[in-house]
Amino acid sequence: MPNMIAGFSKLSKSEKIDWLLTTYFSDIETSRALVKQYWNTDEKLQRLHDEFIENTITNYYLPLGVAPNFLINDSLYAVPMAIEESSVVAAASKSAKFWLERGGFKTEVISTEKIGQVHFTFKGAFTKLNDFFNSIKSVFVDDASDITKNMERRGGGILDIELIDKTDELDNYYQLHATFETLDAMGANFINSCLEQFASTLKREATKYDGFNSEEKDISVIMSILSNYVPNCLVKAEVACPIDALKSKDINNPELFATKFKQAVNIAEIEPYRAVTHNKGIMNGIDAVVLATGNDFRAVEAGVHAYASRHGKYYSLTHCSIDNGIFKFWIEIPLALGTVGGLTSLHPLVKFSLELLKNPTARELMQIVAVAGLAQNFAAVKSLTTTGIQQGHMKMHLMNILNQFEATADEKSQLIEHFKSNVVTHSAVVEAIENLRN
Ligand code: MEV
Repeated sequence: MPNMIAGFSKLSKSEKIDWLLTTYFSDIETSRALVKQYWNTDEKLQRLHDEFIENTITNYYLPLGVAPNFLINDSLYAVPMAIEESSVVAAASKSAKFWLERGGFKTEVISTEKIGQVHFTFKGAFTKLNDFFNSIKSVFVDDASDITKNMERRGGGILDIELIDKTDELDNYYQLHATFETLDAMGANFINSCLEQFASTLKREATKYDGFNSEEKDISVIMSILSNYVPNCLVKAEVACPIDALKSKDINNPELFATKFKQAVNIAEIEPYRAVTHNKGIMNGIDAVVLATGNDFRAVEAGVHAYASRHGKYYSLTHCSIDNGIFKFWIEIPLALGTVGGLTSLHPLVKFSLELLKNPTARELMQIVAVAGLAQNFAAVKSLTTTGIQQGHMKMHLMNILNQFEATADEKSQLIEHFKSNVVTHSAVVEAIENLRN
């Protein structure tokens, strides 16, 4: 087959690059220079990044920005955000400042339970399996003690293991459904190691169990894996103020603003097409902080969206109320995050981001991340229900267009000034650059 290669991972970095360039690129030397331009000159740092994954050829940069002035439970934070979308950090900063002047964000961790499952098949009656399970339940915990002892010393560990009968939905299918407290670790490795131990205990004990016939003794473990759906690892963040206090530079009529804002949130609570975009705006804030702090944004995304559809329909993660003249806006989301383990002690910028956040515990990080999501959503819905989203977006996009045209610092400052009083569109910017240059 053309372009097929065997043993790619065994090639050296420069052999990999050579093969890619000669196989896929027309201007080989320009592409080689580009790949190398992104290498770090500090060899040790580059090796660290090379070894995060397989087949690394270069680095892929994302900007790391900071949104200052987040007042969370009366403490001030400057929040690191790794993201490419031009308006996100600006929007977060604006929201932070807006709520700083109105008492800040209040947050609360509701629960911190993580979940993992051993999926297996058993050919026999549930009652027999259940008797067996109850007779060996403590053995699961004892067998995993080497894995759990450090976590237990710190106050975490296995919370419970249940046997679940899923045979109504799939023939012979059962689960060990286990819950865990993993403290400051996201806990994926800890949970998966415990689950794999539970699986081998299950198989071993079944072969020894006198109550089973030979077919029943032959339990088949299909897989053992944590769940990224963590509806009991929940955090809430909230802002509130009297409606009159919403008055600001862009909000002349606070009553009208509050009403329209609440209607926009209500729409996202019942209309999935809007809810997905509404929640996407929330994830702009959440993912950016999750990424900056070295956490697994795919896990967070998967869990958050499952939570958004937990009642059988996808809907908004934020909610709004207006009661007795008080405007309240809040988010409740599941977030399985870690501040130890994984990338947290390896990636220098992750360490930097965590220090910037005052080296938070996982519980504190959950609260900061939830706030970033709420702030982002506040900024988006505020723009949508007042000026429209394009005004802010295009202002930020202006810089991208200017960079595309390699505008000089002087051209940039003249054009930024010009577009303070003119509508930004791609063609208007191009025309303005051309006029300036002619
Ligand atoms: C764009 O990245 C996010 C928004 O579309 C979110 C929203 O519509 O609420 C502005």
